[in-house]
Amino acid sequence: MNNSTKIIVAIDGFSSSGKSTMARRLASAVGYRYIDSGAMYRAVALYALESGLVDVAGNVDVPGLVAALPQINVDFEPQPDGMQHTLLNGRDVESEIRQLRVSDVVSPVAAIPEVRHRLTAIQQQFGKERGIVMDGRDIGTTVFPDAELKIYVDASAQTRAQRRFMELVEKGSSVTYAEVLANVMHRDSIDCNRAESPLRRAGDAISLDNSEMTIEEQDAWLIDKFNGVIESLSKS
Ligand code: DC
Repeated sequence: MNNSTKIIVAIDGFSSSGKSTMARRLASAVGYRYIDSGAMYRAVALYALESGLVDVAGNVDVPGLVAALPQINVDFEPQPDGMQHTLLNGRDVESEIRQLRVSDVVSPVAAIPEVRHRLTAIQQQFGKERGIVMDGRDIGTTVFPDAELKIYVDASAQTRAQRRFMELVEKGSSVTYAEVLANVMHRDSIDCNRAESPLRRAGDAISLDNSEMTIEEQDAWLIDKFNGVIESLSKS
């Protein structure tokens, strides 16, 4: 292998653990494509909400949603500022999928095996030529078990809720910290306890607790790990 070797970087962790920021910044620094797999589950959850296939309490019409899956296409569109917007059947839903009404129902939608199988297949297509950084819950365990670099990000529920709360307030949302903390803890529990691809650390993943780290410290830590993998592959 040589220096042009392209790898897959899988970054898994709890919601609002800062993994998307890390993943996006690494992808931009090394010229890889970034894929936010959580956005894909959010897009399916939005579809389900809009089609009346899930209620606001998160009760899903599972047969209805499974039957609709062939009609649900999720893709990403690169933006001039380097970000990528999520497309649901060609419609830019990037800001809608971040709303609390979607966060409130996404975990039960993401627990449905057929939803996972469909999105996993699309995610594997994105990684076919490697050169990709993908973040989520099961990227290192299920989507790309052969990823060359796997990171498992952890941070306390309080730290994560505080981060998410600040993001939502900056976007003009009127949620309270208590609501966000409740949503984070509820999602943690569903994501860890579902039968299909629950969130867990891959045996060969490197753990990172970033509760006390700045974004710059995280960037430096991650690029160091990335360079280490590239270096060891170029020697082999
Ligand atoms: O990372 P996020 O909060 O945007 O993820 C939204 C939801 O999607 C979350 O409840 C867990 C689920 N998810 C998943 O089950 N598997 C992934 N690879 C990514 C996200």
